[in-house]
Amino acid sequence: MRPVVLVPLTAAHVPALLDAMQDAQVRRFTRVPVPMPDGWIDTWVAGFDGERRHGWAVLDPDDGRFLGYAVTGPVDRTAREVELGYAVVPGARGQGVATATLHALSRWALDEGMLRLTALVSTGNPASSRVCARVGYTLEGVLRSVHHRGEERQDLECWSLLPGELAGDVAGEPADAPPGPSPAAN
Ligand SMILES: CC(C)(COP(=O)(O)OP(=O)(O)OC[C@H]1O[C@@H](n2cnc3c(N)ncnc32)[C@H](O)[C@@H]1OP(=O)(O)O)[C@@H](O)C(=O)NCCC(=O)NCCS
Repeated sequence: MRPVVLVPLTAAHVPALLDAMQDAQVRRFTRVPVPMPDGWIDTWVAGFDGERRHGWAVLDPDDGRFLGYAVTGPVDRTAREVELGYAVVPGARGQGVATATLHALSRWALDEGMLRLTALVSTGNPASSRVCARVGYTLEGVLRSVHHRGEERQDLECWSLLPGELAGDVAGEPADAPPGPSPAAN
């Protein structure tokens, strides 16, 4: 699997995040506000407190290049459920970065004791659907007309993964996975 390193998002990643969020695909398939209000990005990064929400920069292990980012929704430690999300910068796509990232994120969430992981993928985003399938997620169905941003609504595929379903996991053995989020993120 393509090696990636995930490190907790900090203010130092803001320029790279802003650059990534200029991309049309990121704007279309994520909830990044368009146009982006002044200061929004700082508040967004600060919201990843490492307890209720987690966010990571995805880096190339060889040269530290910013490849993308990965985030959780609110971590529900009572219901033991979490939603995961990711984006890859245009120049790093098609190399398995998102697949490795979602794998690492999912491994982390399972290690945190989560019993149900979800990824919501817009219909019409086949690359992201493929990423979910490759990591072992199951397509449960389509959530119709979900509020996306402003007046915009989207149909979203709901993909889920339960313990024991992560691709490469055999009888609880560690998968051939890239390095996961650093302990500092926990
Ligand atoms: C979707 C996204 C995360 C994929 O990142 P990536 O690093 O290129 O993904 P990977 O290389 O790990 O895997 C992409 C897979 O989709 C496949 N794919 C790409 N375009 C495709 C298409 N149009 N139709 C079907 N499959 C497609 C690739 O062949 C690959 O599958 P494979 O490994 O079996 O060959 C990236 O394009 C992105 O950041 N998009 C904008 C933000 C976004 O959509 N985030 C996800 C929100 S749910």
